[in-house]
This record gives sequence, C-alpha cells and structure tokens, in this order.
Amino acid sequence: MEQKGVSKAVIGRLPRYYRYLGELMEEGVERISSSDLSQKMKVTSSQIRQDLNHFGGFGQTGYGYHVATLYNEIGHLLGLDKNHSLIVIGAGNLGQALANYANFERRGFNICAMFDADPKLIGTRTIRDIPILDVARLEEYLENHEVDIAVLAIPKTGAIPVAKRLVEAHIRAIWNFSHTDLEVPEDVVVENVHLSESLMKLSYRMAEQRRK
Ligand code: NAI
Repeated sequence: MEQKGVSKAVIGRLPRYYRYLGELMEEGVERISSSDLSQKMKVTSSQIRQDLNHFGGFGQTGYGYHVATLYNEIGHLLGLDKNHSLIVIGAGNLGQALANYANFERRGFNICAMFDADPKLIGTRTIRDIPILDVARLEEYLENHEVDIAVLAIPKTGAIPVAKRLVEAHIRAIWNFSHTDLEVPEDVVVENVHLSESLMKLSYRMAEQRRK
C-alpha cells in the first residue's frame, strides 16, 4: 500500500477509523459506503475519501469499503499487526491505572514489567501479574528482555534522567506522561500525553458555548 507524505492530522484520525471499523466488524457489517461511514463517524464523506486516498484508497466506486480489509490495512499502517512489549516507569496512581487497563492487550500492547524507586512498592505486589521492579535494575532488565516501548509515569524531575537511561539502553519509543519535554535522538519516537491539555480544550469549548 502506498503511503505518500501524510500529515499528522491524517495519522491522528486513523485510530478513530480503526475503532469505528472494529465496532462495525463486531456488528457483522461487511461493507460500508463512505456516506454511511461519514454519518456514523460525523465527518464528511469527502474527508474520509481524502484521508484514505493518502494510502492508495481502499474503496471502490458504488461498492463501498470492505470493512475487514480496511480495518486490517489501517491496523497495518498503525503497526498493530505486531505485538509490542511495554515497561512502565512509575508504579504510582497513573502507572497502576495503565497496568490495570486490560484493553491495551487486545491491541497487542503487553505490559511486561513496572519499575519504581519506592522500596514500599518494589517486589511487594503485582498488578495483574505484572511485577514492580527496582528502577535501579532497569538496564539489567533491558539487557535481558526485548522491550519496544517505555511508558514514563513519574514526576517530571525524574523523567529526563530516566529517559536518558532508556535511550542509552536502546529503547526507541517513549510514551511520555511526565509533564516535561524530552530531548531524545532523532531515531527515538516520543508521544506526549497530557490529559490536562485535553481538559483545557474542553473548558475552552464550554467557555465558547457560553459566549454564543
Ligand atoms: P504518584 O505519586 O502516585 O506515582 C509516582 C510514582 O513514581 C511513585 O510510585 C514514585 O515512587 C515513582 N517515582 C518517582 N521518581 C521515580 C524515578 N526516578 N524512578 C522510578 N520511579 C519513580 O503519581 P501519579 O499520580 O501516578 O503521577 C505520576 C506522574 O504523572 C506525575 O508527575 C503526574 O504529574 C503525571 N501525570 C500525568 C498525566 C498526564 O495526562 N500526562 C496524568 C496524571 C499524572
């Protein structure tokens, strides 16, 4: 499948297509027209056609999209046809909430270990069989296990030195929840998640409604 220079906005919409198509598959829908998909997803059908055309288009005029094919192709684009192993640094409220969320596994994201600096947590418990290990032994663990993604769920003061250690230990993807920007080499991908920013956007839209 062809992949021309794709904008971040298009890539940002792919997970939503994937989710909707997954739901259609669960409902037993085999084919869907771009107008029906557009109604369901509340985006214009021309937007859908434009988005999917970036990847060579998957539909046929008058025939619609084959749901399973489109689902699998988008899954492939998103790298979801491969399993990913994750570690979580920080086994506090957020780290434990992430480890407790079993749905990541459905998408092939498997959390294999958590790391923390607090002796009260290390080795004392597991979250759904995921052990909490000493962050001092991070490098040793990474030498012996294949890990694709490290999740940073620690306060920002620790995030930069820990990210440096991860990069030196050849981690090439960081899902960063810590409130700090990380400086990493070009071949390392970082996805920042800020729930409070999402909440601020919601608050902006609420204020906008009130101004109307
Ligand atoms: P928490 O205090 O419950 O847990 C933090 C854990 O990190 C503790 O168990 C602590 O021992 C451990 N830790 C601290 N420094 C460490 C280090 N250098 N190496 C290994 N472990 C270390 O805090 P919570 O609520 O889990 O939040 C964690 C961080 O994530 C906070 O800084 C918070 O601001 C941030 N956060 C970000 C969100 C986002 O949307 N980006 C949402 C919620 C929290």
